[in-house]
Amino acid sequence: MTLDFILNGEDVVVKTDASGRLIDILRNHFKLLGAKAGCLSGVCGCCSVIFNGKVVPSCLIPAFRIRGSEIVTIEGFSKYDEYQDIREGFSQSGVVTCGYCDAGKILAVESLLRRNIRPAPEEILSAFMGIKCRCTEPESLIAGVLATSDIRQRRLYGRSA
Ligand code: FES
Ligand code: FES
Repeated sequence: MTLDFILNGEDVVVKTDASGRLIDILRNHFKLLGAKAGCLSGVCGCCSVIFNGKVVPSCLIPAFRIRGSEIVTIEGFSKYDEYQDIREGFSQSGVVTCGYCDAGKILAVESLLRRNIRPAPEEILSAFMGIKCRCTEPESLIAGVLATSDIRQRRLYGRSA
């Protein structure tokens, strides 16, 4: 099947078989390796992308759903101000990421802050629940998200909560 869609702001066309998944198409056809193949069952989040404005696991998106969609991967997202907010918030709070968990952690924050700019600590921990990373303490994750929230609010409205 031939699929045309928007990928990181560009019109693209790809030929693939109907049984393919978005994660395979990104990695194999476009060499976008930021979305990692982890659990492949929608739990770990390390294959996250923004699909039509929503953060979703790319391992759960079948090829036929891609036609006409707009997709932003972690590579594309890294050019946005929102990405810089998260990077700065993480760095202020000692949250580490690596090639494996980058897309999952960063897009988990983005998804959460799009729903609620000032999430409660329990909400923050639940947003990271599927991500298997022992490199950052839960307290730092909470601090990292709240720092990001402050940075974003200052950037957008000139003040934080
Ligand atoms: S690889 Fe997609 S959620 Fe784990
Ligand atoms: S920093 Fe990536 S798995 Fe812990």
